[in-house]
Amino acid sequence: MIRLGVNIDHVATIRQARGADEPDPVWAAVEAELGGADTITFHLREDRRHVSDRDAEVLRRTVAGRLNMEMSSDAGIVRIALRLKPHQCTLVPERRQEVTTEGGLNVVAHAARLRGVVRRLRGAGIEVSAFIEPDAAQVRAAAKCGFNAIELWTGGYAHARTRAQTERALRSLGEAIDVAHESGLVVHAGHGLTYRNVDAVAALAGFTEFNIGHSIVARSVFVGMREAVREMKRLLDRASQHHVAIVDAEDLLGHNG
Ligand code: PXP
Repeated sequence: MIRLGVNIDHVATIRQARGADEPDPVWAAVEAELGGADTITFHLREDRRHVSDRDAEVLRRTVAGRLNMEMSSDAGIVRIALRLKPHQCTLVPERRQEVTTEGGLNVVAHAARLRGVVRRLRGAGIEVSAFIEPDAAQVRAAAKCGFNAIELWTGGYAHARTRAQTERALRSLGEAIDVAHESGLVVHAGHGLTYRNVDAVAALAGFTEFNIGHSIVARSVFVGMREAVREMKRLLDRASQHHVAIVDAEDLLGHNG
């Protein structure tokens, strides 16, 4: 079974748009867990543009399942993570001007700095994941840095416009999964996954967790968070029953697309 991580940042984004106290992302987390979310994911940004310190504290005390904190490797944020001790920290690149996390972390370029951050977080008993693009050099660098997991950026797949692009993106994800497993890494995935496109990725064998935010929060406006999560969970469960170990992107698309 693939774990479903529900990213609740967008609920906080709606709250911040009015500088009000609703909707509360903590309530969203409760509803998501009641709908079957295995993990609650939040991104405590350096500029606190959506999730706040209060949200992080209350989530830590109230989330019943796994808690995954997305974060940069900024010293102040690392200190907060060491105090909160979520089950998992996912290190992501952070740029102030971006709308959402665009692309993966360059672990190859920042290996020396990341190694120290990973050592401290893992020393506190936290699982540490690197959000990276499906690239063999990045996967191997993540293993060398001491990460125990990676989250593969699925934006290349989600943004593909032609069948050839989609097949290429699926093949890269499959190849990255193989390299990760050879390197002893657990593999997660996320970014741009929706009710319409999740099937083919979830049918690839080897993923442990998917982190999905925008599409679930968007649907929750109409059907409620609990039902939106339930529907996504059902899609993941169904797709993972048709797991294919060998990456034949044609087959995946023929089967599900
Ligand atoms: N995983 C990571 C590391 C992210 O930063 C995000 C948010 O961009 C997501 C997953 C969820 O992406 P989306 O909102 O497109 O589902």
